[in-house]
Amino acid sequence: MTMKAVVISSPGGPEALEVREVEDLPAPGEGEVLVKVAASGVNRADTVQRQGKYPPPPGASLYPGLECSGTILALGANVPSRWAVGDQVCALLTGGGYAEKVVVPAGQLLPVPEGVSLTDAAGLPEVACTVWSTVFMTSHLSPGESFLIHGGSSGIGTFAIQIAKHLGIKVLVTAGSEEKLAACKDLGADVCINYRRLCSTHKRRNWWKGC
Ligand SMILES: NC(=O)c1ccc[n+]([C@@H]2O[C@H](COP(=O)([O-])OP(=O)(O)OC[C@H]3O[C@@H](n4cnc5c(N)ncnc54)[C@H](OP(=O)(O)O)[C@@H]3O)[C@@H](O)[C@H]2O)c1
Repeated sequence: MTMKAVVISSPGGPEALEVREVEDLPAPGEGEVLVKVAASGVNRADTVQRQGKYPPPPGASLYPGLECSGTILALGANVPSRWAVGDQVCALLTGGGYAEKVVVPAGQLLPVPEGVSLTDAAGLPEVACTVWSTVFMTSHLSPGESFLIHGGSSGIGTFAIQIAKHLGIKVLVTAGSEEKLAACKDLGADVCINYRRLCSTHKRRNWWKGC
């Protein structure tokens, strides 16, 4: 049996990516699930891996792809009962998302949120896990506190604004243009600062108070 996967033929530009028939995956092991991939997120790290500068860690798939969405095809032993064959999921991966199927530990699965398409969900795990682990698990940002996000209109920033507002946190953002700040405001940012327009007094002290 074979499946299709995107293979890095040799380090290089986008032309280094080739769709090939490759050996099918083994059955999922203890605590793992087999996912039929619907869509994959494209991350900067994939690009660097394609250039040969970011090899996958030992034991990871040789195919690129650090996040995906899809449908559970099979369950290994001792997978928590919240997951079942046929569930639509998205997953954080150590690699292998650019393929028809991927095996992933159940702990790296997320349900597809209501109102989010299966395709869009492929772009959720990397940003969600990055923001949640750094801002909430490590820094313990809590309701009632204020949160300054530089690069508010970035991928990380736009996700951080939404989850922080959802949790009752005051959000201040900086960005490099009025258009970017308008997007941040639409997502719920309370204070929006164009860092290219700060006057010298604001740059020195109390720079956000009049904003
Ligand atoms: N996205 C993810 O899932 C993810 C996961 C893990 C780690 N990261 C890391 O988190 C950081 C932010 O990632 P991101 O995906 O949020 O980035 P992004 O969407 O590409 O946004 C980067 C932001 O940085 C600002 N910036 C400042 N100087 C820049 C320059 N010279 N060129 C381009 N942008 C510049 C820009 O905002 P202004 O114009 O407002 O300054 C821009 O919106 C990166 O270091 C990335 O590797 C991201």
